[in-house]
Amino acid sequence: MEVGYVWSFIYALITAIFIRWIIKRVIILVKLPPGPWGLPLVGYLPWITKDAYKSFIDIAKLHGGLFSVNLGSETVVILNDWKSVKATLIDQPKVFSGRKYLKLTEATIQNNDVAWSEGNVWQIQRKLTLKCLTNIGLVNKSMESHIVDLVQEVTEKLTRYNNKEVPMESMFFSSILQTNWKFVSVDPIDNNKLREYEDAIKELFKRFHPDNPLLIFEWLRFIPPNGFGYKAILKASQVVTNTLRETINSHLNEWKDGDVNDFIDYYIAEIKKRQVSGQKNEKPFTIDNLLGSVFDMFTAGVDTINSTCLWAFLFLTYNPDIQRKAQQELDAVVGRLRMPNLYDFTNLPYIEAIIMEVHRKASLAPLAVPHRTMEDAKVFGYTIPKGTTCYPNIYAIHNDSTLWDKPEEFNPARFLDNNNKVVWPSYLIPFSVGPRACLGKHLAQMELKIIIASLLHKFNFKCPIGSENSSFAIENGLTLHPQPYSLLIQLRND
Ligand code: HEM
Ligand SMILES: *[C@@H]1O[C@H](CO)[C@@H](O)[C@H](O)[C@H]1NC(C)=O
Ligand SMILES: *[C@@H]1O[C@H](CO)[C@@H](O)[C@H](O)[C@H]1NC(C)=O
Ligand SMILES: *[C@@H]1O[C@H](CO)[C@@H](O)[C@H](O)[C@H]1NC(C)=O
Ligand SMILES: *[C@@H]1O[C@H](CO)[C@@H](O)[C@H](O)[C@H]1NC(C)=O
Repeated sequence: MEVGYVWSFIYALITAIFIRWIIKRVIILVKLPPGPWGLPLVGYLPWITKDAYKSFIDIAKLHGGLFSVNLGSETVVILNDWKSVKATLIDQPKVFSGRKYLKLTEATIQNNDVAWSEGNVWQIQRKLTLKCLTNIGLVNKSMESHIVDLVQEVTEKLTRYNNKEVPMESMFFSSILQTNWKFVSVDPIDNNKLREYEDAIKELFKRFHPDNPLLIFEWLRFIPPNGFGYKAILKASQVVTNTLRETINSHLNEWKDGDVNDFIDYYIAEIKKRQVSGQKNEKPFTIDNLLGSVFDMFTAGVDTINSTCLWAFLFLTYNPDIQRKAQQELDAVVGRLRMPNLYDFTNLPYIEAIIMEVHRKASLAPLAVPHRTMEDAKVFGYTIPKGTTCYPNIYAIHNDSTLWDKPEEFNPARFLDNNNKVVWPSYLIPFSVGPRACLGKHLAQMELKIIIASLLHKFNFKCPIGSENSSFAIENGLTLHPQPYSLLIQLRND
């Protein structure tokens, strides 16, 4: 008898808890932005194609620019148009400044970097990293000389192919990697190491695409034989962190006060400053955070520039009139006797507009990096609960025909006003917007300007005979890559 009562009680309690949970879920779902129905367990995932940003465009046609969609393990919110991105990332910067938590980034860099940390630590580390970047690279001008070296190297590589077809996909990456390296550390990277390091970074980017099931069903990492690529990611990130840790250690061993030559020195100096004033070394003033910041520069900062350069020369080749016009501008402003530099850019609006149009058409990080709400958020009368993952759909905004005239066309002139001045519209957002926007934006623009202007100044880029109609195929990743391609290259006559 007694036992029977206890069981009924427990049964009733469990039912009550369960019903309460269901009611709470329903209330949340009712308040959430609308979205498509899915199936139990897998949600709407079976209908999401490999190019998730395109599936989201289709969903938005039915449910509007702000919608929620169940991806199996969680319900995420998609900011599919400019109005929604503005109402969230820009108008409620603090609320939307969180980052989706991933076991994967925890396992690789313990979220000690800028891109995957959150809250106070993220804010301080971001500021500190930006300060190091600015003082070492941008104020000092040393970065520009490193980029000029990079261009020199790429130019030499390309010149060897004069009047022949050049496999463009292998022309940029290693030079960009070495440039970013120079500015993180003045110690040169060992040549044998470089290859291994390059492959590891390539591997990381290939595996880190948002539709990788591993990023959605994180338990897949336990499935043999290789945990859906989990082991490969860990291995690759180990190669990168080992190399970086060795370099940081040699900086620490040879540390001399006041002798600050590179990013690592600058960060160490900030850590030491706090030690001297007797403060504890709390995050982000630790060597592990320094490692994280540098790790970001080599993951977020190399692949992106490699792909953008490759998109640029692909677009310029298949739009020969635009290429010619850019070269005319260069010849008029820079002349044929020297190479272009950053100062010239006050007078190179057309080239600048080309780079902007490359950013728009390429939409390199189509869904940016997943955000997370730090508290309950109200948007257009809906409630997005704290801890919800949100993706801005940058691709959709860059291809929105209500914002852009003929978005499918490559047309730099759309960014020039009647006085031939460059106008950057607020909804051109290759680097995303708000407090989480790309930290390497200025560095990236600097590298792209010098690389693209210099190579256009030096060479003509032409389609190989017979491939005039090849499409701009896309390879999927966290960033969009063009497929490997070859071009006919020609030194310009002086
Ligand atoms: C063409 C080049 C680049 C593009 C298109 C690009 C794009 C982006 C985008 C879309 C984000 C996500 C912002 C968000 O969460 O909403 C991002 C974040 C980030 N990028 Fe870039 N990026 C580029 C180059 C670089 C470079 C050169 C560096 C490093 C020096 C860099 C470092 C970072 C970091 C650290 C973050 C994370 C910022 C944070 O979470 O606070 N990026 N980038
Ligand atoms: C600029 O960088 C050089 C090394 O590249 C260094 O010697 C110099 O002290 C730096 N200047 C400033 C103001 O940081
Ligand atoms: C991009 O916009 C063009 C023109 O509006 C449209 O034809 C095309 O389907 C769009 N692309 C995607 C992926 O939605
Ligand atoms: C490319 O397309 C154009 C027009 O559609 C056609 O006339 C031309 O023959 C094509 N060229 C090649 C190499 O297929
Ligand atoms: C650079 O980009 C090209 C074009 O997408 C790609 O084929 C190549 O693998 C990239 N290089 C590296 C090392 O990732």
